[in-house]
Amino acid sequence: MDLKEQINLEKIPRHVAIIMDGNGRWACHRGKDRNFGHEHGVSSVRETVEAAADIGVEYLTFFAFSTENWDRPQTEVNTLMELLVKAIRDETPELNEKGVRLMAIGDLAALPEQCRKELNEAIALTAHNTRLTVVMALSYSSRWEIINATKQIAAKICSGELNPEDIDNEVFESHLGTTGIPDPDLLIRTSGELRVSNFLLWQIAYSELYFPCVLWPDFRKKHFYQAIIDYQKRERRFGRIPQPQC
Ligand code: IPE
Ligand code: IPE
Ligand code: MG
Repeated sequence: MDLKEQINLEKIPRHVAIIMDGNGRWACHRGKDRNFGHEHGVSSVRETVEAAADIGVEYLTFFAFSTENWDRPQTEVNTLMELLVKAIRDETPELNEKGVRLMAIGDLAALPEQCRKELNEAIALTAHNTRLTVVMALSYSSRWEIINATKQIAAKICSGELNPEDIDNEVFESHLGTTGIPDPDLLIRTSGELRVSNFLLWQIAYSELYFPCVLWPDFRKKHFYQAIIDYQKRERRFGRIPQPQC
């Protein structure tokens, strides 16, 4: 049976987050520069967006560039920023046609001017779309996001706008970049690495984790559907006992 047909459309994760990893190794295996891998990773993003939209995923978050990735060689950072601008230019019209809304989280002020400008234009253009929301995590790290939220909350306490006793999950979440976005139901990291590398640490508290060995530039719809099928076999308990009880 076709993989897609094995998916239970009643149990689609609302939010899938993806750590796109393995571009450098993919290029290295072919005797090429790391940037060759980054270039090929763009088509995997396109396929994943299509696959997610097809089965009714509501939110798809991509970890595209971490705060720590600024420490890579300048030439690689430059290529990644150029690729981002090119991908926004090339992909936005079709995303818009397909009803995809684009959002971004992270320290966007750290991005090069041109990148920020084109990103903001694409976000504004697609703001009213409702089929699927694609969230790009750019210059993002979870610790940065949590510290940023803490600073905002501290400032509100200092000004008397907020009482320390009133801080709860809801108040804290309302100061994160992901405000209004449900927590990921499923987190996928490609390339076989078994770590989360400072991604959505608060939000993945109860996410199901999936670590396929496929390198990101080889990731295709079938890999996404495999992840969804695996997710649908899991029992999410949120600290409760199994249902039905054994
Ligand atoms: C992921 O691939 C892309 C980014 C982190 C921007 P990598 O560049 O980390 O590839 P590997 O892990 O070195 O193979
Ligand atoms: C995580 O991958 C960041 C992104 C995918 C953007 P890395 O390749 O940077 O993570 P580490 O260094 O292997 O933990
Ligand atoms: Mg990596």
